[in-house]
This record gives sequence, structure tokens and C-alpha cells, in this order.
Amino acid sequence: MKTEQYRPFTETHVLALPLPFQGHINPMLQFSKRLASKGLKVTLLTFIDNQITKTKNGSVNIEFISSDANEEDDYFQNLKSIVSVKLPEIVAKISESGFPVSCLIYDSIMPWALDMARELGLFGACLFTQSCAVSNIYYKANEGKLRTPVEKVPVSIEGMPLLDLYDLPSFFFDLENYPTSLNLLTNQFLNLGDADWVFFNTFNGLEDEVINRMTARQFPIKPIGPSIPSMFLDKRIQENKEYGLNLYKPNIESCMKWLDSRETFSVIYVSFGSLCIMGEKQMEEIAFGLKRSNHYFLWVVRESEEEKLPSNFVEETMEKGMIVTWCNQLEVLAHKSIGCFMTHCGWNSTMEALSLGVPMVAMPQWCDQTTNAKFVADVWRTGIRVKVDEEGIVTKEEIEMCLKEVMEGEIRKNCEKWKKLAKEAMEEDGSSDKNIEEFVAKLMATSH
Ligand code: UDX
Repeated sequence: MKTEQYRPFTETHVLALPLPFQGHINPMLQFSKRLASKGLKVTLLTFIDNQITKTKNGSVNIEFISSDANEEDDYFQNLKSIVSVKLPEIVAKISESGFPVSCLIYDSIMPWALDMARELGLFGACLFTQSCAVSNIYYKANEGKLRTPVEKVPVSIEGMPLLDLYDLPSFFFDLENYPTSLNLLTNQFLNLGDADWVFFNTFNGLEDEVINRMTARQFPIKPIGPSIPSMFLDKRIQENKEYGLNLYKPNIESCMKWLDSRETFSVIYVSFGSLCIMGEKQMEEIAFGLKRSNHYFLWVVRESEEEKLPSNFVEETMEKGMIVTWCNQLEVLAHKSIGCFMTHCGWNSTMEALSLGVPMVAMPQWCDQTTNAKFVADVWRTGIRVKVDEEGIVTKEEIEMCLKEVMEGEIRKNCEKWKKLAKEAMEEDGSSDKNIEEFVAKLMATSH
């Protein structure tokens, strides 16, 4: 049995600063664990004081920033103020422990963290937790080459398929609901040219043309993904099971047991991530679409969404379905019984499905998910995208049809290619692994 080898810690210490959302914490934490396994000392800063596990050798220290970033209206401005006060304190505190920090790895949504790193005399490494393709679209907007309202569709961007309006990130068409979000995302590029490293949670083969074009422009992009524990990519690797930092309490045992008793590829896994809020009508259509599919299903309905389930649905579908408020998604997707993932196409969910070879029914909701869904359906061809009716609803008939096609059709065959590439990228000497090694080596050489 192969076990993940951990190198002894050196004195090179990095701080990881994720945006405090589940979809941003997960990739940053897994990247941090990779770095720790290669001998860096890593401390991850978090605002979330729940379910935090400090794991053993080779793992990551967790430092809690004890402040509530939600207190004020302008969430991101408030976050910036808190970090600007806490970061110097934490860096000073850590330095006293004898392992001074040499680099800050920060989420690309917080470009101001690079300026703070500089003031503290640290290297700055930026991690993008969305796809390179999506980032390229925001970059075009930053350059002024793509404006809202979008005037001409389809949109043609080099290295990408033609994009209809609803293939663009939602901030290009849903201007009413999110008037300022596009700014936040285009701002990712403001000072990116000054960062010492630019990492993406992606892997070679997946979106090479966009990566090459962006790299040629000015940002030397290094793919470091898929940011998931190696044990999921290579069954021979045994790692510490405590790999997550969940904002919600997962219902692990009961759902894994339930899956164990199901046959290979017989279950539809349904989840819309940590943030999506569904309308009641849409929730009903999903429920009835699942029921009509007549397949087994495991559906994650967060506590805040539960009341939208049609009455008696749970009782009526007990034979076929299981509903949980949160699960360990990687363990679920890696389970042999899962035949299809009905997903909102958050970038992590998309990467996880691609890396574990699970075909998708793509039902994007907002943000980058629309573009991810476009790539799933038309570029990687590992899923189909649902059609939305004139009222903005995906009907139960449509859901039933898409589920049937993915569960019973040929699309699963297309998934093997990406699963193989994901595994190869993260193997020793694989492309992402090499990028990570290179970063560790440079940091070690310069911080002594
Ligand atoms: C958000 C955005 O939606 C996404 O598009 C963006 O790229 C990142 O931030 P989120 O909506 O939560 O994230 O979706 P996603 O990116 O898929 O991240 C969810 C994470 O939670 C995944 O890593 C998934 O494995 C995990 N998860 C989800 C669980 O562990 N258990 C669950 O029950 C559901």
C-alpha cells in the first residue's frame, strides 16, 4: 500500500489566506496540505471557528482570525479592514515562534492582500479558485474589451468557444441583482503583474489554450490542481481522513452506508454547493424530476433550503432517495455507486467531477457556473446542460430527460480522459506537482 510521503518541515513558512467561503477555503486548504507534504511549514488563516481540525505531521496549522466580517454592509471592504489589522499581528506572532513567514498565498479575489504582503516584506503568491477560462473573460472586461450590457453575441474570445450571453459569467447579464460584483472580479487583475507567483486550481490538458494565451500576455500561470487529496486520485495512497474544513456539519456515516448498498453507477448525486439559493418552484421541479427519473438519488439540501422541499416528498421517496444537509462530497463522488452528478457547476464541484470521472447534469445558477457549464457540455463533453424555459425554470420533464441521458447514455465514456489527466498532473513529476515543487524549491532557496 502506498502512503503519502511527508518531508520533514523546513524553516520556510508560508501563510495561506483564503476568502472565507467554502468554495474558496477548500482549494486553498488542499493546496496548503500539498505544500506541507513537501516540507513547507504552512499556516492557514480562517475566520471560521467551527469544526477546525488540527491534523498531524505534514499538515497545516490553522490560525483563527477572531472577527466577524459580516458585521457591516460592505462585506469585502470590511474583510479588507480586518485583514489589514490582523495580518501584521499574526505575522509578528508567528515570527516569535521561530519560524518567520516568508510568503503570503492569497485568494485572487483579495488583490489588496498582495500590497499588505509587500508592506510586511513577504513574497506574494496569488491563487485563483475559478477556471482560467472564466478568469480570461474577467480579464477581457478589465481591459475594456467586454462591456456590460454586452452589445454583440456570440462573444468571440481567442482560445475559447463562441459564447452566448448566458455562457458568460452571470455578472455580465444579471446586472440588476449584482451591480458591483463584476468590479470585484475584474479587480483581480489590478496588481497581478506584481505577484511573485500566479497559481490556478486547474490542470494541464483542461484549458491549455487559455492558459498559454494568458501566460504569453503577462501572467506566468502555474496550474496546481486538481486541489483535492491524492487519495481520491490514486486509490493506493492513504492519507489522513481529516482533509476538510467544513462550514456545515457533514452527515458522513449514514450516507456512505446508504451508498454502499447501491449498485455501481446507480445513484444520482445532487448538490448545488454552499451558496446557491433556489426558488421554491425550482426546488419542486427538481424534486419531481428526480422522482420521475426513477433512479436512486442522494440530494444535499442545506438546512436553510429544506423548507422549500415539496410536502411529503421525503416520505414519498424514501425507497429511492436520501436527503442530507451536507455530505463529504469527495467521498460521495469517489463512490462506485455514483452514476451522475447534478450540479450547479461551481468550479470545485466541476473539478471534482472531472477528476473523479463522474458525468454531469449541469444546472448553473450564477457567477462563473454558467461558463463552467458551457465547458462541461461543449468543450470537455462530460455532461449536458439543462435548458431553462421562458419563465426561468428548469422543468421536471427537462430534468428527467437530462438525467436519463447521462445515467443511461454514452457520456460516461468521455470522462475517463479527464480523470486520467487529473491524476497524471498530481502524480510525482506530473505537471501540477512539478509546479508545486518548483515553488517550494524557490521559496526555500530565497528564504534562507
Ligand atoms: C462558490 C461558487 O459557486 C463557485 O462557482 C466558485 O468557483 C467558488 O465559490 P460553491 O457555490 O460553494 O462555491 O461551489 P463549489 O465551487 O462547487 O464548492 C463547494 C465545495 O463544497 C466543493 O469543494 C464540494 O466538494 C464541497 N461540498 C459541497 C461538500 O463537501 N459537501 C456538500 O454537501 C456540498
